Amino acid sequence: MGILSMKTQILAFGASNSRQSINKQLAQFAAEQIPNIDLDLADLNDFELPIFSVDLEKKAGIPEAAYRFRDKIELANGIVISLAEHNGSFSAAYKNLFDWMSRIDANVWMNKPLLLLATSPGARGGKGVLEHAKKLYSFRRELPVPTFSLPKFNTNFEEGTIKDEQLYTALMTSVKQFIAQLTP
Ligand SMILES: Cc1cc2nc3c(=O)[nH]c(=O)nc-3n(C[C@H](O)[C@H](O)[C@H](O)COP(=O)(O)O)c2cc1C
Repeated sequence: MGILSMKTQILAFGASNSRQSINKQLAQFAAEQIPNIDLDLADLNDFELPIFSVDLEKKAGIPEAAYRFRDKIELANGIVISLAEHNGSFSAAYKNLFDWMSRIDANVWMNKPLLLLATSPGARGGKGVLEHAKKLYSFRRELPVPTFSLPKFNTNFEEGTIKDEQLYTALMTSVKQFIAQLTP
């Protein structure tokens, strides 16, 4: 990114380390609905980290992968996260990355606008983890964090798009709320 770039920088990722992550696909699709952006589509597999422990941190410090992801957040004007739901909560890979980054600075998202998404093959579409994340990440924010959950991914995400009109409209409502919060 050069200093002459006028485009809004968006970081998008699936909060999962599955190589075929359906959440990564949804995060990418949602980000692509935003006009005139530079998209940084991240893959958690490129940020592999040991399981967080205070002992390891004391012994070896914070791994560089946590700093590398933090750099991405710093460059972004806004962040699109699609959360995988594992047993009603965050995937271990995502939670672990978040824990490491929280040791660099507790304000992990640096007050950047967030668009929170979730999808799963099931009918609830990851709503549990989405609500949990919304509550956590709304702390000390003035503006509401827009969210969208896509149920039954394998039926509702076809040929790289959401064909169901109601679902697409619901996604776009949240995308527009997110766009309104972006300041380049
Ligand atoms: C350990 C584990 C726990 C899971 N728990 C849930 C769950 O609580 N709710 C749900 O909707 N799906 C659950 N699933 C299914 C995931 O939604 C599914 O694997 C989905 O593809 C995850 O998203 P990803 O492809 O982005 O990793 C679970 C999957 C695994 C491997």
